[in-house]
Amino acid sequence: MAGVRLADYQPAPYRLERTDLTVRIFDDHTLVQARLSLEPNPLAPLDAQGPAPLVLQGIDLELLDLRLDGQPLAQEGFNRNNTSLTVLAPPPRSFVLESVVRIHPHDNTTLEGLYASGGMLTTQCEAEGFRRITFHPDRPDLLSRFRVRIEADRQTYPVLLSNGNGIAFGDLNGDPDGGSGRHFAIWDDPFPKPSYLFALVAGNLEEVRDRFTTSSGRSVILRLHVEPGDGALTGHAMTCLKRAMTWDEEVYGLEYDLDEFNLVAVRHFNMGAMENKGLNIFNSKLVLADAATATDGELERIESIIAHEYFHNWTGNRITCRDWFQLSLKEGLTVFRDQSFTADLHSRSAKRIEDVAMLRNTQFREDSGPTAHAVQPAEYQAIDNFYTTTIYEKGAEVIRMLHTLLGHDVFFKGIALYVQRHDGTAATCEDFVRAMEDAAQIDLQQFRRWYVQAGTPQLSIQKHWDGDNGSLTLTIRQHTPATPGQPQKLPVVIPLVLGLVDQGGEPVPLRLQGESDAAARAADLDPAWGMASRLVVVDQPELQVRFEGLEPHAHPPALSLLRGFSAPVKVRDERDVAELLHLLAHDSDPFARWDSGQGLLRRAVLCRAAQTPDDALEDGLINAYERILLDGSLAQRSRALLLALPGLAELEDASDTPDPPALFQALLDLRRRFGEALADPLGRCLERCRSQWELTWPQGDGDRDLTALIWSWQVAAGDGQAIESALDAVSGHSMTLARAGLGALQPHRLPQREEAMALFFERWQHRPVILDTWFSLEASAPFSDGLERVSQLLTHPRYDGDAPNSVRAVVGGFIANTPVFHAIDGSGYRFLAEQIAALDRRNPITASRLAKRFSGWNSYGPERGGAMRAALETLAGAALSTNTAEVVAQCLQ
Ligand code: TRP
Ligand code: ZN
Repeated sequence: MAGVRLADYQPAPYRLERTDLTVRIFDDHTLVQARLSLEPNPLAPLDAQGPAPLVLQGIDLELLDLRLDGQPLAQEGFNRNNTSLTVLAPPPRSFVLESVVRIHPHDNTTLEGLYASGGMLTTQCEAEGFRRITFHPDRPDLLSRFRVRIEADRQTYPVLLSNGNGIAFGDLNGDPDGGSGRHFAIWDDPFPKPSYLFALVAGNLEEVRDRFTTSSGRSVILRLHVEPGDGALTGHAMTCLKRAMTWDEEVYGLEYDLDEFNLVAVRHFNMGAMENKGLNIFNSKLVLADAATATDGELERIESIIAHEYFHNWTGNRITCRDWFQLSLKEGLTVFRDQSFTADLHSRSAKRIEDVAMLRNTQFREDSGPTAHAVQPAEYQAIDNFYTTTIYEKGAEVIRMLHTLLGHDVFFKGIALYVQRHDGTAATCEDFVRAMEDAAQIDLQQFRRWYVQAGTPQLSIQKHWDGDNGSLTLTIRQHTPATPGQPQKLPVVIPLVLGLVDQGGEPVPLRLQGESDAAARAADLDPAWGMASRLVVVDQPELQVRFEGLEPHAHPPALSLLRGFSAPVKVRDERDVAELLHLLAHDSDPFARWDSGQGLLRRAVLCRAAQTPDDALEDGLINAYERILLDGSLAQRSRALLLALPGLAELEDASDTPDPPALFQALLDLRRRFGEALADPLGRCLERCRSQWELTWPQGDGDRDLTALIWSWQVAAGDGQAIESALDAVSGHSMTLARAGLGALQPHRLPQREEAMALFFERWQHRPVILDTWFSLEASAPFSDGLERVSQLLTHPRYDGDAPNSVRAVVGGFIANTPVFHAIDGSGYRFLAEQIAALDRRNPITASRLAKRFSGWNSYGPERGGAMRAALETLAGAALSTNTAEVVAQCLQ
């Protein structure tokens, strides 16, 4: 199948001035009349053959009428196939193309275009859903002004929304096709936008209103729309929205630009949320939340996603993407912005640590497998497959490195220049880098490789200590492993922040060879990176740096590396257990401190999984943890993070031939050992946590995090009192503690686990958003009857197979059920392949995302790898969507 290639990009032959829509909603179909005002594009390459044909995209549309400047277009005047309509010889001047199509939103299970969810009709157009609503060029570089008229029955659809400002509403008297009781709304969006930002919502919705005054004094109406009865759960979302609006004004100087801002919560949604201009649409699980119904982690995630979509109003909407290869232009930058927002509002170090843990467990895995691709990919078949952690999170890391290399002030000069140059247009990643380059007056030529080269660079660091003269020489090498289609890699620009910690645990001031003391002091980074930090830019395959004037000593100071996770790379170094334990105890950079512990934990888990537990290492960790548990100066959230065990994906990544069930068991065994050895300090620490349980988020979040960790260790160690506390929490009024209890009980075959799950179901069975948690926990219960359990869930009366949230809860939960999914007989892999094939017929976007779990099959050794490959081959034999076919083919190549 032919893919779309960046190299083939051409400007559109026709510019689009306006898109005027009339959408008439009826019970079993919808009529869409589109009026496109077009003109030849002077920027398009000239064609000697005369006027270029006009290609309009269209999928599952029944064409009822087609006119050019009011005259019906003859059959010979256009071509049609399943996905497009081509007007063969449009006039060489401005003209109007009008079409009327019939669509069937109630039969649309793809959740793209216009579809039904609960009692409402809603849209999802990014990336290419608009073509399921009407014939349109549907390409992001065509920005047009939209005016939308919606007509519908007032009883069924009292609320009618679209982008921009509502300008007229009223009754329709005697609609010839619809009878009485119908009404209309007209929405006008003054900002030209690409079609992927179009949205329309019609339904019976409860509205919650608020107001925001922008920094320049304009008053904006904020409206949240939810299903009737859910209004009480919108307080958090509204507060988050106002925080995001304030932050973007204060930090980026960017103000909201319309008179109203609408936000709608939808149950059936493929992704998290969508930034449609003035009408953000959210997965309802990201709107409906309070402390009783959502965990602290969920409240923080909701805050960050509401901010993310809001921030897109500038980085994505006002400045949009020229083509989909530029997706990270808006997504990487907007993730960077939402990460900074959360860091500013809450704990900067905890946010960084959590984001890095996520990156390592998702993006690093993607980057080392068959679906690896660059932040700016060169080719795709289905663009939906490229809404990846690489585009989003690695893209954000690339922006963050620019911030580190340029410094805060210059970076923001670059942002201002970018906005000033490109506001109101469709831009490229290159435009962004050039704005940074011009603002900073530096050459970023080599830095651009981060956009086009896939794969996670590896740094290896060797140190040579001259104890007599007090000099430390580091030999730093970089290497990026090959990825599909990119066998040879060039060196990238890696900002490496490092520091030294002396035997007493104190930071050591750094001076490079030949550097004056004054210059050394000036090069010392802001303490946000840890005390006495230095930025070393590694842009060669090999580099040596030499620090001099250190205290002569038999042993070198401990080396604190990649502080703040200054670059998305893997580090291989020779630091031994003692050095890492020293850093875990003393490093002034919170990230590097945490990372030393993670390195030790990975080793401990791998040794256990190989049936060769390293007792000395575990004793060292237990010692360190005892001090961490009792150290009064540490924040509770930091304490919880320092003790958190690494994720399975990164453990697999660190193994030669990963045996996931063995790793899973090793994690359980380690928890038991820690729970037993630390029984006393854990108990004392829990008492302190308990006194903060009742505080409302964000207060007390660290105490509740730590409670979850302590319970899971205590329960693993068989502590009867902890088991009862975990069970009791399910009936309490904090969802965070309820989930902490369920999480602690989850991996153990205990009657209290079953009891807790039954109580949770009983309590929340009428709240689908919350019940998804129950489905997910059931599907991931790591017991031998796992396959039967999950099959029963799929036919459970409360399971909604058309809601991606539920599918992800059950099928995704099953994938996370390590011993069952990775059963050596391959039954788990076969089950997943069957589920994907069935889902793919209804919802390709969600199906192909699940199919990515098969990437990396060949890392699992002959037996598991063979079984995974066999499952992939069966899948390849089924009739698949372009989306899933692309993923399966990539995995098998
Ligand atoms: N632009 C959205 C975001 O990052 C992503 C998104 C939402 C999306 N829904 C989608 C992408 C459906 C593809 C298909 O916030
Ligand atoms: Zn986004």
